[in-house]
Amino acid sequence: MNIEANKIAGAVLSTLLVVMSLNMAAGIVFAPKKPAVPGFDLPGEEVAAAGGGAPAAAAEDPIDVRLAKADAARGEKAVGACKACHTFEKGGANKVGPHLFGVFGRSEGSVDGFGYSAAMKGRNDKKWDAEALDHFLKQPKGYVPGTAMAFAGISKPETRADVIAFLKSLAE
Ligand code: HEC
Repeated sequence: MNIEANKIAGAVLSTLLVVMSLNMAAGIVFAPKKPAVPGFDLPGEEVAAAGGGAPAAAAEDPIDVRLAKADAARGEKAVGACKACHTFEKGGANKVGPHLFGVFGRSEGSVDGFGYSAAMKGRNDKKWDAEALDHFLKQPKGYVPGTAMAFAGISKPETRADVIAFLKSLAE
């Protein structure tokens, strides 16, 4: 092999490398900023005024619709954030929060021996169904004002559905 040819090939390759890494660096620096809400504002008021009857731009699909597309395995990964305070396996202990095996369908605030906040304890008459969990996991303090669960919530509607699908799978 000709040494000159090798040198040229080497030079071409390293130029390519430099160009590629510049490109990547630029991509990082100038990463396009995604809008918090994709899409654009719909003229909800005009639609309502026109008597269309269509609800103004529903921000989220109802939980039933999202649950139909949810994936318990993805949910299992997403609950990593909860494990500082909760156990998920059968017979798991209470930690900072009550154990969550079988929580789907359980009365709210009903694990014996767990020290719930007064706010949560007073809700035994309600059950953790998909809708309740969706509200609570979106914004714990919005669903149970005064709850002791120090967790901001899961903002992504699809992730909440995945987590609920996982919680639902934790049953006998
Ligand atoms: C910083 C600790 C902490 C984290 C993180 C946390 N929780 Fe909790 N959770 C609690 C506490 C404390 C309670 C009891 C709240 C009360 O008594 O008001 C609770 C209650 C609950 C309940 C109600 C249980 C029952 O028996 O009524 C559910 C459901 C729940 N958490 C789900 C989750 C999920 C899912 C996550 C993760 C996405 C999570 N929590 C993250 C501390 C936490």
